[in-house]
Amino acid sequence: MIRSKLIKWLKWGLACCMLVPFLAWQAKDTSFQPTDTKGFIAEMQKQFAEVQTIKKKENHREELNETEFLISYTPLGYHIGHPMEFGIYWMNANGERELLVADSKISCNQPILLAPRKRPFHRSSSVDYTKNEGVYYMQNIYEGNGLKGVAPGTIKQLRIVEIQFRAAGVGEVNGNDEGGGALASSPVGVGNAAWDVKRVIGVTDVYPDGSAFFKVPARRPLYFQALDEKGRVVQTMRSWSTLQPNEVQSCVGCHEHKNTVPVAGHRVSMAMDKGIKALAPEDEMGERNFSYLKEIQPIWDRNCISCHDGVKHPMSLKGELKVVDKQSKRKYTDSYLSLTHARPDGPGRAWRGDAHHPEVNWISALSQPTLLPPYFAGSNKSNLIKRLEEGHGGTKLTPQEIRKVSLWIDLLVPQIGDYREANNWSDHDREFYDRYDKKRKQARMEEQENIRQYIQSLPASGSIIPNLPCWGL
Ligand code: HEC
Ligand code: HEC
Repeated sequence: MIRSKLIKWLKWGLACCMLVPFLAWQAKDTSFQPTDTKGFIAEMQKQFAEVQTIKKKENHREELNETEFLISYTPLGYHIGHPMEFGIYWMNANGERELLVADSKISCNQPILLAPRKRPFHRSSSVDYTKNEGVYYMQNIYEGNGLKGVAPGTIKQLRIVEIQFRAAGVGEVNGNDEGGGALASSPVGVGNAAWDVKRVIGVTDVYPDGSAFFKVPARRPLYFQALDEKGRVVQTMRSWSTLQPNEVQSCVGCHEHKNTVPVAGHRVSMAMDKGIKALAPEDEMGERNFSYLKEIQPIWDRNCISCHDGVKHPMSLKGELKVVDKQSKRKYTDSYLSLTHARPDGPGRAWRGDAHHPEVNWISALSQPTLLPPYFAGSNKSNLIKRLEEGHGGTKLTPQEIRKVSLWIDLLVPQIGDYREANNWSDHDREFYDRYDKKRKQARMEEQENIRQYIQSLPASGSIIPNLPCWGL
């Protein structure tokens, strides 16, 4: 009984062994597509059948047990350029072996024995291209290490930020910090500052129990920032997440370990009770690409440069784009370089900011990759914000203005909100950038057109997504 079961397993295993390497191989090198997939599988099946017949004939029908194995093996040894790659063999403890599967071009590796089983339930796709939003649900932001030690109730909002990628690289800065060194092309600020242009999408309430439930624009790289009552970052996500239209994704907190599941026995959260919310605007400017030059410099112009003109007080907060950085191909203002405590990397080299300065600090783009503790850096740690709150120099900034300065710091001090802003590009540089930007726009248009045609091709009933919970998008 057990014997026959084992034989069954072995047969299944072998069938899968043929498919697994084939799939793995496909994933490995897509430039090397099989010309005849069906033929390839048929060939493998034929070989499998042959081996079975030989085994039967030779009365060689042992099951896999403690003394028998399936192995990957290449009899002539393996080195690059060798015509014979790995095959899958049966082998026993005496070293006897028999070739089961081989291909002259494709290595067959990692045989795995599988038991026959029912095909698992396949959840149908929830993507609906007639929509343009997705939904995030967060169970409890205080769960996990991201907000370790932070008192429940501290977080009032999540800020949702989109990363906007450059079309091409023109100019560069170098960053260096605990995470190592790296070059950023078409820089948006000094070295160690934000890597990309940031688009402020909006905010959503985090309820007292740490939950949130909100709609976001689909197909955009987004990240989340946990904000306190003054809109200052307590913890931030440094990677991003993207939803396809109509997708719903949930997380526990900020973060749970990625191998854990939602907290068992958790009460229905307040956010779940209240339902899905649209995002609220960050401030009176709503959704926009964040530009220090457009949003922060005017505050300094109104309040600070009467003293901070570089003469009365040596630290200039003036806003002319007069510092030309040849390596980064950008122009900077005095104020931006003063507040980021930037210095050139060397004579004629790009400016690099000091992300750890007590006056203005931020999470360096080259910070260590492991999880950072809450309140690691940013507006909550920067003395400048305290100064502004205390009315430094007789100034009276509104809470909204101070929140904007915090926003700038917590977006990791970008200077510009568009890759073309404050550039020092030659005509050649501009043409180069425009060419790639145009290609990107064309690709987007083609994609839009494909989506439009796809939607048109759908059955008139419009029901693309059977069996899915309706979130009322
Ligand atoms: C403000 C805290 C915070 C919140 C809230 C948060 N995250 Fe994250 N997220 C992080 C951190 C921290 C990381 C790890 C990488 C890093 O340090 O940025 C991360 C990483 C990720 C990653 C990348 C994982 C990987 O392995 O590369 C995804 C995807 C993600 N989060 C999705 C979500 C989703 C979905 C939610 C809930 C709607 C969420 N996050 C809420 C802080 C947060
Ligand atoms: C009435 C004059 C005056 C005004 C207006 C003023 N400051 Fe100052 N600021 C000073 C003086 C004097 C110092 C040096 C003493 C100190 O650190 O407080 C200073 C110091 C600073 C420092 C620390 C400089 C360093 O070298 O570390 C910062 C940052 C700063 N100011 C920012 C601002 C900002 C931003 C504004 C506008 C919102 C502003 N100041 C408005 C007079 C002024």
